[in-house]
Amino acid sequence: MSSPDRAGSAGRSVLLLGGTSAIGTAITDALIREQPGPVLLATRAPDRATEPAARLRAAGATDVGVIRYDAAQVGEAAGVVAEAAALLGRIDIVIVASGSYADTAALAGDLDATLELVTVNLLGAIAAGEALRPLISAQGSGRILALSSRLHPWALEHAGVYAASKAGFDTYYRALGADLRAVGGEVLVIRPPGVNTPLVEQHPSYHSPEEVAVEVLTALADGSTELTIDSHEEQRSGRRSVVRRLLARRRRRTSGGHHRNLH
Ligand SMILES: NC(=O)c1ccc[n+]([C@@H]2O[C@H](COP(=O)([O-])OP(=O)(O)OC[C@H]3O[C@@H](n4cnc5c(N)ncnc54)[C@H](OP(=O)(O)O)[C@@H]3O)[C@@H](O)[C@H]2O)c1
Repeated sequence: MSSPDRAGSAGRSVLLLGGTSAIGTAITDALIREQPGPVLLATRAPDRATEPAARLRAAGATDVGVIRYDAAQVGEAAGVVAEAAALLGRIDIVIVASGSYADTAALAGDLDATLELVTVNLLGAIAAGEALRPLISAQGSGRILALSSRLHPWALEHAGVYAASKAGFDTYYRALGADLRAVGGEVLVIRPPGVNTPLVEQHPSYHSPEEVAVEVLTALADGSTELTIDSHEEQRSGRRSVVRRLLARRRRRTSGGHHRNLH
């Protein structure tokens, strides 16, 4: 990332907060394949960013830089965004992907761990949003892709602190989107279902990060402000109920015809 003007001259720039996130890097990869440009990975662990950086270069990124970012260090968010803006020149897309997960049993009795999770998922995310607000306002454009979560009854029952932190995140980014619309900014709040990433226990029915990325690109092209992604099971049962509705309509039509013939 040699020149501050580089992004403007070399395509659409992407800043990924949570630079090694599996979902975040899959979305970045898809964005780069759609429209090449420079990428900045903001991460706690620059050494772990080597592999995603190489993958994004191979996908067509014109340049990939890595800077330090820790969502738990709430007071540092403004400095990180300023550093990113200086390196990229202008920031076209920001993906807010930092997130931590622990269920109620894992957090039980550990107030420090509980507050750390809320700090990363909610306070750190708000600090990032507040740092992005004046930047997007000054640019007159810029899109934020905010990785929220679906509020499953299961999560409410078994992972209440995570669910609460993500509910706050979701509300904040929807509100930020409404504010930024007036100055040319856009926010897409994304609610993935279970996704196979290091954050959660793997499950064969879960989405892959790449499947999430496909849906995100479609939502971006549609100009959507919210994207709730159905699980595979919900997609299957949705398809089944469409087929059931079509069959029922056909049966009604057939029996209607028969009925008419009776008169
Ligand atoms: N996987 C799912 O089933 C699922 C479902 C719904 C929503 N989401 C949301 O999607 C987002 C991305 O998650 P992912 O599934 O891609 O998982 P992931 O690969 O584990 O990425 C999570 C990222 O969050 C950052 N992070 C984690 N713990 C942190 C901490 N204590 N302090 C600061 N940063 C921390 C890390 O970034 P660095 O290590 O690069 O700093 C990490 O790469 C999260 O916000 C998550 O809540 C995930």
